Amino acid sequence: MRFPEDVPVLRDDRDTSTVTLRAHTADDIGPAYEACQDPEMQRWTTIPVPYERENAVHYLTEFVPAGWRDGNSWAWAIEYDGRYAGTIDLRPGDGGVGEVGFAVAPWARGHGVMTRALKLAVDHAFEQGWTRVIWRAYVGNWGSRRVAWKAGFRGLVTVPDGGVARGVRKDEWIATRSRDDAAEPAGHWWQVPTLEGDGLRLRALRSTDAKRVMEACNDERTQHWLAGMPSPYQFEDAEAFITGRLENLASGEGVSWAIADPETDDLLGNVSVFDLKNRIDGSVGEVGYWLHPEARGRGVMSAAVGLAIKHAFKPIDEGGLGRRRLMLFAAEGNTASAHVAVANGFTLTGTARAASPRRDGSYDNLLCFDLLATDRPQSAAATES
Ligand SMILES: CC(C)(COP(=O)(O)OP(=O)(O)OC[C@H]1O[C@@H](n2cnc3c(N)ncnc32)[C@H](O)[C@@H]1OP(=O)(O)O)[C@@H](O)C(=O)NCCC(=O)NCCS
Repeated sequence: MRFPEDVPVLRDDRDTSTVTLRAHTADDIGPAYEACQDPEMQRWTTIPVPYERENAVHYLTEFVPAGWRDGNSWAWAIEYDGRYAGTIDLRPGDGGVGEVGFAVAPWARGHGVMTRALKLAVDHAFEQGWTRVIWRAYVGNWGSRRVAWKAGFRGLVTVPDGGVARGVRKDEWIATRSRDDAAEPAGHWWQVPTLEGDGLRLRALRSTDAKRVMEACNDERTQHWLAGMPSPYQFEDAEAFITGRLENLASGEGVSWAIADPETDDLLGNVSVFDLKNRIDGSVGEVGYWLHPEARGRGVMSAAVGLAIKHAFKPIDEGGLGRRRLMLFAAEGNTASAHVAVANGFTLTGTARAASPRRDGSYDNLLCFDLLATDRPQSAAATES
């Protein structure tokens, strides 16, 4: 192919804005150099660090044209409303499968530019006969993951040490979109709405909650009834728990809230609705929780579960989790937990024998509760934001 004459121009025109993929020009050198000074760009891509002006000159005047001529890399400038906003490239591979890479300048982020550019590039790949496009990002690059999810990439896996940047190995996420996949999200990426009511606030967990999480999970009673928790529960365990909630949201597995004091916003506990991708029945969910010892004995968890289940039963198109049935399990003898279930209208459906492991290797019986969306009107007066 000749550069730039044969580089296809791909365009997504909307009423409010236009995203165009076009051949790079010498005018892009300055803005590309500027964009590559951004720490996020340096953190999540393989560009040289420090990034000098010569790097931009070499990339745009030698590497990119050579890629088109040789056919081993098709890199476009992304133009957003007439201004250079970033770069996206396709790297064809054997057997009709290739990879995509992208980056957008800080000023253009958060406007959907990358999602639109990615859809244009992937459509073009399929028009050229590709059967599958592979997306890769270092673990933790949530922005890139969300762009890929929005553009229909799926089947995400994590490959330990799968990526490398400037000689350093990094864990990597990989997902793909095949020619037969819709350019739409596959599966849910849940949000954590702030729920308020009954003198409580349920909000997303934050990194600053780690100390309170550690205290709550090191508590003797928490450790006794939740025998699967690390013991002792370290600060790093709390940090991993908080980060893991992002993964649960993104993978569609579950939603967790910090139960917070509405005055101080301090974490009082945690309530989660999880198992949302249950393999047998995707309309169910399980409710789980723990409370900081300082917050016990005053109805906090009963109220928090009330707010969470109201959200769980709300239809998905109204921003809820669209559940039909919720399950809740408590070890026999955990009176406080059984009380929370009963207070929220759950029915005790049975006892699973020797089903709740203890730390000494023995087992408690497990009380099994459930609640159907049709069981009762939702009582908690929750407001969402
Ligand atoms: C990742 C990147 C390409 C996203 O570009 P963008 O144009 O801001 O993406 P979009 O506007 O299309 O965003 C799509 C969605 O992702 C979300 N998103 C974007 N950046 C995010 C971030 N850092 N964290 C969480 N979500 C993010 C947006 O809110 C949007 O979701 P919404 O539509 O539900 O609101 C851009 O931040 C970037 O260039 N980063 C540095 C380089 C890089 O990481 N490249 C990818 C290497 S694999």
